[in-house]
Amino acid sequence: MSGSTTIATMSLEGGRVLVTGAGSGIGAAIAHHAAAAGAQVAVNDIDASRAEETCASVRDAGGIAHAIVGDVSEPGPARAVVESAIEALGGLTGLANNVGLVRGGALETLAADTWREVFRIDVDSALWCSQAALASLRNSNGAIVNTSSLVAYFAAPGAGAYNAAKAALSSLTEQMALEWGPSGIRVNGIAPGLVSGTNFSASSTDAAVQARRQPVVPLRRTGRADDIAPVVVFLLSDAARYMTGQVLRIDGGLGIALQTFIP
Ligand SMILES: NC(=O)c1ccc[n+]([C@@H]2O[C@H](COP(=O)([O-])OP(=O)(O)OC[C@H]3O[C@@H](n4cnc5c(N)ncnc54)[C@H](O)[C@@H]3O)[C@@H](O)[C@H]2O)c1
Repeated sequence: MSGSTTIATMSLEGGRVLVTGAGSGIGAAIAHHAAAAGAQVAVNDIDASRAEETCASVRDAGGIAHAIVGDVSEPGPARAVVESAIEALGGLTGLANNVGLVRGGALETLAADTWREVFRIDVDSALWCSQAALASLRNSNGAIVNTSSLVAYFAAPGAGAYNAAKAALSSLTEQMALEWGPSGIRVNGIAPGLVSGTNFSASSTDAAVQARRQPVVPLRRTGRADDIAPVVVFLLSDAARYMTGQVLRIDGGLGIALQTFIP
């Protein structure tokens, strides 16, 4: 190593991070892990009691957390959420656009409202929050992490709107990275595979579901929110300082297992 080596770490010491949809599941875990890495966190959720619950548990663990209640899927309310977070934290160094939901439905009969709801929450929210956070992130050379999904790469039965929305979010991640890289803002994404135990995937902890799913994952278990959050901390941290426009799969290897399903 040369004498000019600058050691990068996964610490978020001094950081100020807003996490959307952080009242449960993966978002709550991101808030916990970011706080444990040294950041103050703003915990957004549309559900006030969920946001407060995450804040209380972050504080119990010794962290600093502010609840920011609001719907991030429309431009005006999303801007209000980001502005409240900036005010509470004194600026932003990181934004985790984590909010998302899935709605079932075959494409042949999918209702326009369902298609629009899924895109509004899974895609639009990331754009509106990022736009509102941009000036503050420019000041801090900050980073954005978008929560996409493994379904962005692989079609799945019965959730066509969700899969297309996550593919759009992965593409949006690259576009943001391209446009905002020259301002010093890095934009990356994560693509979780099967994650059990969140509200979104509540039924997946059933023994029968687990018995069917574990054998198809190369690491032989489904994921937990706690498996996903450390990767977000990494992408927000200086350790990822030369990475932008990437979406990292966190799936126990499920995405590379296609050939094992061929009879
Ligand atoms: N659970 C999985 O298997 C899985 C896999 C891949 C990707 N993901 C993605 O991970 C992210 C988090 O999912 P999760 O499993 O933790 O879900 P979750 O349902 O447990 O948490 C999502 C949170 O977002 C909140 N929310 C919903 N709409 C909102 C809005 N408009 N504004 C603010 N908050 C809102 C909900 O109240 C909820 O607390 C989503 O983007 C999801 O698509 C989940």
